[in-house]
Amino acid sequence: MKGILLAGGSGTRLSPMTLAASKQLLPVYDKPMIYYPLSTLMLAGIRDILVISTPADLPQFRRLLGDGKRLGLRIAYAEQPRPEGIAQAFLIGHDWIAGSPCALALGDNLIFADHLSDLLRRASARAQGATVFAYRVRDPERYGVVSFDAAGRAVDIVEKPAAPQSNWAVTGLYFYDARVSDFATRIRPSARGELEITDLNRLYLEDGSLEVERLGRGCAWLDAGTPDSLLQAATFVQTIQSRQGMLVGCPEEVAFRLGHIDADALRQHARSLGKTELGQMLADLADGHQA
Ligand code: DAU
Repeated sequence: MKGILLAGGSGTRLSPMTLAASKQLLPVYDKPMIYYPLSTLMLAGIRDILVISTPADLPQFRRLLGDGKRLGLRIAYAEQPRPEGIAQAFLIGHDWIAGSPCALALGDNLIFADHLSDLLRRASARAQGATVFAYRVRDPERYGVVSFDAAGRAVDIVEKPAAPQSNWAVTGLYFYDARVSDFATRIRPSARGELEITDLNRLYLEDGSLEVERLGRGCAWLDAGTPDSLLQAATFVQTIQSRQGMLVGCPEEVAFRLGHIDADALRQHARSLGKTELGQMLADLADGHQA
């Protein structure tokens, strides 16, 4: 399976921070925001990744991530000239996807859970259909919202409903089968002029092949699109890292644990981070001092 990281948009809700910088490169505690969804895709076992961003911001992503070899990945890049909708990622990426199954992660979403890789690997291993994740929130009207029947089957999915039928928001992480590029060509712009990811998910729902995995209490899902949620995400990462000594959203750690890179490569990367806490944690991991 391949994976797209969508990191465009104008980030207006974070202005003026985003006037001269891409939202998805802003720091979430000790790492650029995009590291978190990148780590998530890696944990799903994905090694072919397409980063989509604006023409102005794309060079910065290239500078940060390069061709991905350093992480045992193959990273490609594509431009989205205007923010014409999340589902447009599959039209922009059509040739690169080349008919294979493809996941999509929004560049401002952070998911943290016990056994996350099991959940992700199950989703990426499904040969047919799509898998999305639902998370209970207090303010569902801000999101795509999925509602369920008495048997717990997903029956409807609506983008930012004024009167939500449930509290279950759809997170910004999606897994699709090989039909995704074809399904994406059937979507038409919504009233707000965007190719909605919710409309793509609805096509799978109507096809009877949309799996909705509900994320429970032991799981944190944060988006970092406003000053408050950016601060919350940073505080969350800081709390886990300093209390437990475990890294959150660190692609080098994931690459090492998955065997994409060896201890020497990790040590070298740790050294390049100088005297930072993150560099020290990665050095400890390379030396076998971290469980
Ligand atoms: O965070 C999950 C939610 O993400 C879902 O529940 C919604 O169904 C989905 O529509 C989306 O809602 P948002 O209101 O958060 O979408 P937003 O326009 O903020 O875009 C999310 C990210 O994707 C943001 O980091 C910018 C990027 N983006 C967005 C659009 C529309 C692009 O790169 N290009 C685009 O054209």
